[in-house]
Amino acid sequence: MKISVVSLLREHLGEIAELERLCFSEPWSENSLLLLTEENNFGAVALSDGHVVAYGGMTTVLDEGSITNVAVCPDFQRQGIGRAILTALLSEAKARGIESVFLEVRESNAPARGLYRSAGFSEVGIRKNFYRQPTEHGIQMVWTNQK
Ligand SMILES: CC(C)(COP(=O)(O)OP(=O)(O)OC[C@H]1O[C@@H](n2cnc3c(N)ncnc32)[C@H](O)[C@@H]1OP(=O)(O)O)[C@@H](O)C(=O)NCCC(=O)NCCS
Repeated sequence: MKISVVSLLREHLGEIAELERLCFSEPWSENSLLLLTEENNFGAVALSDGHVVAYGGMTTVLDEGSITNVAVCPDFQRQGIGRAILTALLSEAKARGIESVFLEVRESNAPARGLYRSAGFSEVGIRKNFYRQPTEHGIQMVWTNQK
């Protein structure tokens, strides 16, 4: 099955909102996902048969980026697609002169923490009760551009 990773466009937002509902207890709506199409923000999607099976988003301010989410459709997990999305986001960040990228991840989310660590993120702090449904601490992670 051929998967292609392309830039996130407005036309992908409906399917991304569906993916959000599949993956998260507090999903982003199609309307809130519009943020990723604004100037300074961007995203990447993985397409299979023309349909979105994974996505990731980043907002930026000056030389700092923040990953909003990375999600892979459950049927497509553990095939390297999450890593491909993250690689695409970090490569675009570098091209835009971003020096550091931050994110939060649920403390119990071992797959995501593993993915981010393997992409060069370090765990730098804890945000107490950052998440709801269920309430949980957030682990703060940061990546810096080594050039
Ligand atoms: C986290 C997530 C994005 C990973 O995507 P994926 O496509 O399955 O991950 P990949 O196949 O690219 O794996 C990359 C690395 O992530 C880690 N990883 C992924 N799934 C894992 C699992 N179930 N258990 C442990 N580590 C895992 C590993 O380090 C893996 O590297 P390896 O295969 O060399 O061991 C995916 O599980 C997902 O969408 N989860 C639900 C949404 C979510 O929690 N998003 C993160 C919000 S911050």
